[in-house]
Amino acid sequence: MKKILFTNLLLTMLFAASLHAAESINKQGQLKAAMCAGCHGNNGIGITSEFPNLAGQKLAYLQKQLHDFKAGKRQNATMNAMAQSLTTVDIKNLAAYFSSLPRQVNTVTEKTINHHLTANDKASIAEFPDAVFSSMKASATIEAFPSEKVVQGGENMLYTALTPNGKMLLSTSPSTNTVYIFDSKTLQKLAIINVGKAPKGVKVTPDGKFAYVSNQGSNNISIINLRSLTNIGTIKTAAGPHNVRFTKNGKLAYVTLQGGAGIGVIDTKSAKMTHIIPVSGITGPHNLDLSNDEKIAYVRDFVHHVAVVDLIKEKVTNVITVGNGHGGIDVFPNGKFVATAAIGDTFISVVNTKTLTVKNINLGTASHGIRASKNSQWLYVTLPKENAIAVINTTNWQVERKIAVGKFPFWLAVQGNP
Ligand code: HEC
Repeated sequence: MKKILFTNLLLTMLFAASLHAAESINKQGQLKAAMCAGCHGNNGIGITSEFPNLAGQKLAYLQKQLHDFKAGKRQNATMNAMAQSLTTVDIKNLAAYFSSLPRQVNTVTEKTINHHLTANDKASIAEFPDAVFSSMKASATIEAFPSEKVVQGGENMLYTALTPNGKMLLSTSPSTNTVYIFDSKTLQKLAIINVGKAPKGVKVTPDGKFAYVSNQGSNNISIINLRSLTNIGTIKTAAGPHNVRFTKNGKLAYVTLQGGAGIGVIDTKSAKMTHIIPVSGITGPHNLDLSNDEKIAYVRDFVHHVAVVDLIKEKVTNVITVGNGHGGIDVFPNGKFVATAAIGDTFISVVNTKTLTVKNINLGTASHGIRASKNSQWLYVTLPKENAIAVINTTNWQVERKIAVGKFPFWLAVQGNP
């Protein structure tokens, strides 16, 4: 009995010691791995398909490749140069670190890839309980789902929005400094409206009467009257207004100021920006959404952060690390999750709004537009490099399908989730 206990104790000690050793090796490797993140990602998952994943690769294999790159036995100009500065110890640590990382951020099964919807494919149509429109930056089109009809007639259409009644579809065109307005049923163009320079985000007031267009190049917001379909004036902001979000009562609008100032607070009645809430700890506030009680703003930056901003205290309470690059951000209509895309990465991040824990869902490619269905069951994500839209079932976080679309799907307008 004593002997068994002693052996157990010894084993436990040995195990703890080896764990400790592995951890300290990984720390060194982790520090060095900052040099590699620009291509192989923060987590060892290559940022684009040109860069192999290193996470979870066999230790001996990684070590051999690095030695071979260093000696010029394996030829690749970038990696030969990278490996030059690495010592044998560095190589050991890096290999240990990368091999210890999870192979994939999350495993997904794709039931159907590049599958087009058909009238008798009931399962696929069920994935679009409300109308969804996605703009194609490089095809000058907007595609409608589940009908898969294509809206044409606008150059360089970027951000899109629907009126609350779903009747009008708006899209900004930064290269022509205009906003296009379409009838969302007939897909006919109703108007082309001149706005400021480089218009980006467009949002409609909850009463459906006005649209706010963030003119990133002229540091103001154009107000469009949606009855007369005319530009009725501007609101001055600070540098780089990118997108707004209205409160449900329509009294306030928050605007991301990508120039770095933070988020601007706009009083919609006087049509004035009253003040700016600084958002520290992030780089370039890009897109934002509000919690259901409207006490918190989630602000996505240009790099890899989401700032959690307490709108009552006007203070940042948390900064969450998400995928690299910019992208959309969406609080689910049920308020439980906030999801953000990442154009320089291969996964999206879903944050639990209660616990602020992050779940990364691997899509294997860059993402940009992201929005949940009104019933919060489906999460739609545009994949600009794969020219597809992913439909994720939020009950199990699996990718149900990827639908082939036009070139560079950029943004999503979802009926019932402005
Ligand atoms: C500027 C971009 C870039 C950086 C930075 C970079 N790599 Fe690479 N790496 C590449 C490319 C590209 C390849 C693919 C080379 C090829 O096709 O042979 C590669 C391949 C590798 C491979 C071989 C993987 C395989 O599956 O065979 C390893 C291992 C590797 N890199 C490790 C590293 C480490 C460790 C660092 C940091 C010290 C690093 N790389 C930094 C671009 C980069």
